[in-house]
Amino acid sequence: GAPVRADISRLEPGQRVIVEWRGRPVWIISRTPEMIARTQAIDVTSLADPDSNVPQQPAYIAGGLRSVTPEIGVLVGICTHLGCSPLFRPEPDAAGVGVDNWPGGFFCPCHASRFDLAGRVFSNVPAPTNLEVPPYRFASDDIIVIG
Ligand code: FES
Repeated sequence: GAPVRADISRLEPGQRVIVEWRGRPVWIISRTPEMIARTQAIDVTSLADPDSNVPQQPAYIAGGLRSVTPEIGVLVGICTHLGCSPLFRPEPDAAGVGVDNWPGGFFCPCHASRFDLAGRVFSNVPAPTNLEVPPYRFASDDIIVIG
């Protein structure tokens, strides 16, 4: 499939847009400094797949935020358990995610898998691996090319 160009010029801090790439939803999340700090503060021993690499993410993606820049996260929005689309629950007080001290992230309603704002999967949920990071690059500050 052809690469997809996403214009993020109207993406507000803390918000997410969804674009379609190869028939799949790709989430683009604008992470605030506070969201970045919350994500970086997560104890990696609470994660099921802390060292993800190819094919979960491109080889040029490194670090716990799993992104080219800290502020913008790009994830395939499909649960790595059985393919449901997790819900965006970015706030630490999100109700219904089933854990205390929720750091914000994504909650799969099908079987309660939980992912942080970098798409990292927590332990003790059915999903075995992190959400996929698709290949992407910035064509400019406002344009992301996915694929
Ligand atoms: Fe997401 Fe099962 S499909 S937890």
